[in-house]
Amino acid sequence: MPTDHRRNAQRLPWRMLASAILLACCSGQGHAAPPKPSGHWSLVTVGNAPTPPMGWNSWNAFFTDLDEAKVMGVAEAIVKTGLADRGYRYINIDDGWWLKRRSPDGRMVIRTAIFPSATGNNSDDTSFKPFTAKLHAMGLKAGIYSDIGYNSCSQAWAPQGPNLPEGTIAEREVGLHGHVSQDIALYLGDWGFDYIKVDACGLSAFGPNGGGGKQGKYRIWQPLVVDQKVNLTNISAVRALYAEVGHALSMQRPGGDFVLSLCNWGTANVRSWGKDVGTMWRTSNDMAPRWTNMLHSFDSVATRELYAGPGHWNDPDMLEVGNGAFDNNHLLQARAHFSLWAIEAAPLLIGTDLRTAPQPILDILGNAEVIAIDQDAAGNQGVLAHNSGDYQIIVKTLSGRGDKAVALFNRSDEQADIQLNAAHLKMAADRPIRVRDLWTHQDLAPFTGARMVRLQPHEVVLLKVSGTPLLASGFFLSEMTGRINVAEDGIVSPEADPTIHRMADPYAYSTSSTGSRPIYAGWGAPRADSTPYDETLGIAGTSYRTGIGALANSRIEVRADGAFERFTAEVGVDDSTRDKTAAVQFEVYGDGKLLVASPSMRFGQAAVPISAAVQGVKIIELIAHQKNSSRENMVVTWANAALN
Ligand code: GLA
Repeated sequence: MPTDHRRNAQRLPWRMLASAILLACCSGQGHAAPPKPSGHWSLVTVGNAPTPPMGWNSWNAFFTDLDEAKVMGVAEAIVKTGLADRGYRYINIDDGWWLKRRSPDGRMVIRTAIFPSATGNNSDDTSFKPFTAKLHAMGLKAGIYSDIGYNSCSQAWAPQGPNLPEGTIAEREVGLHGHVSQDIALYLGDWGFDYIKVDACGLSAFGPNGGGGKQGKYRIWQPLVVDQKVNLTNISAVRALYAEVGHALSMQRPGGDFVLSLCNWGTANVRSWGKDVGTMWRTSNDMAPRWTNMLHSFDSVATRELYAGPGHWNDPDMLEVGNGAFDNNHLLQARAHFSLWAIEAAPLLIGTDLRTAPQPILDILGNAEVIAIDQDAAGNQGVLAHNSGDYQIIVKTLSGRGDKAVALFNRSDEQADIQLNAAHLKMAADRPIRVRDLWTHQDLAPFTGARMVRLQPHEVVLLKVSGTPLLASGFFLSEMTGRINVAEDGIVSPEADPTIHRMADPYAYSTSSTGSRPIYAGWGAPRADSTPYDETLGIAGTSYRTGIGALANSRIEVRADGAFERFTAEVGVDDSTRDKTAAVQFEVYGDGKLLVASPSMRFGQAAVPISAAVQGVKIIELIAHQKNSSRENMVVTWANAALN
């Protein structure tokens, strides 16, 4: 494992100190009034990533100790090993590339001591053009890194590390703030980059008590992001700053040929709005090459299946395959980590030094059958079909009718025999289901009904299965998550999601704080095959394995594209509702017109079947319209919701 300057540096207090900073708060995305149908698909694609971006990033391999020889060596390795042919295209440089922002014109200057090809005619006239041109000539794409504030993460948290920006306070302000159009024009215009990752330490770490601010070396920025406290975070301001970058990128590349990677670590409720602002968005704190960090990152996307889809992706962070607990001595764990990213349709950004990576690690990263699951064109994220702290079964519906990928995950420390059955797969229990193991590359004996699979501790068995769908035609909505846009979630005040593994601080592993607590907002957002609070769907005592669980006053858009004839569901107030008195009406709209509405329904009333003809309809909207105010959240269920 490479030396981690930051893990050895003074990174310890930053997320903790941040939580002590007081500042004005803002509201979440609450909606007092019932939503109105939009009549159109309101999600605007930012950039160009119809399938999750694949490539390599320098951070997990080199931290700020990067240089051109290392990056080019990796680029050559990615081509030579055949990984480029498998889809890994982006070669992304992370923190550490910059020298300073030039005065007085603000043009960024590259640290040519580590990127010699960037040397220009005079010392400040540097350019990455030769570097990106070389990558492009190799058939690759190039990515760069910046921050949304004035300053970057390493300036705050690794002041002893190599390659920190130099000069006056103004010259060391290398982040985008105040220079968005100028920097984007330089990076994606003159310099020819195709991808930009935008970090957020500038918004969180440079307050008077933050890692950067208290050094007295940087301009103070009263934090807009307080990592562990969504109520102290200015959600709308953070979103607006990132939206400005998206706008500048669209101006620079009107054809949309770019990737905007938002990197504010799951703060500011980005799990709800990242899809509207970026191509991909981090859902959690940094991954580290430790098992429990991987669990934390995975859990931060595992319940967000309705937020990803073609062009917009949940990002549980860059891969640690090849490093630490996922290295050549831990191939079972490395396969598990890679399988989980693939089943969740996560971006696949390699984070190991490919110049020296051993063949078994290259074989994992290059497993074409697993990559194909990640890259499936339907863009569905996996949905939890069985969920406990020990075992999980995650099912991803693939483009071919009757084809699914399923990950069986043994999180426990003991060997386990896990049952996979037709109901998990939404397949007929009396028809054979074909099975292929994507790690052994073998077809297993077909099964009917159920089969047992033995798993070692921490193992993921990743299978591709083909069978007879339960529905004669069409899909349950939870099988088409890539066609869903949560336009309004009905959440009035953001709450932290308690289902995510509570890892130790990834840079300090210290117990000096009072512990690791739920931190990412998102609790209460709509879910596939679950209530918004991770309970089994149920109406008036009847449980449902499939459906969409949501809060009242939510609006969910479904991109039907005229491909379906009928929408059906059984609707009602969910038995887990917090409010047991208010009434809700379930409304289905097609291209903005009301197609069907349920009667007003209350807690305890039996489910009501609804059905709407949707021939030719492009956008279906599901609105749970709360009829009167309530003191607590109403939970509603669109049970067995399907389009056929
Ligand atoms: C943050 C990000 C990382 C990496 C570093 C660089 O911690 O989350 O992915 O970019 O900053 O300093």
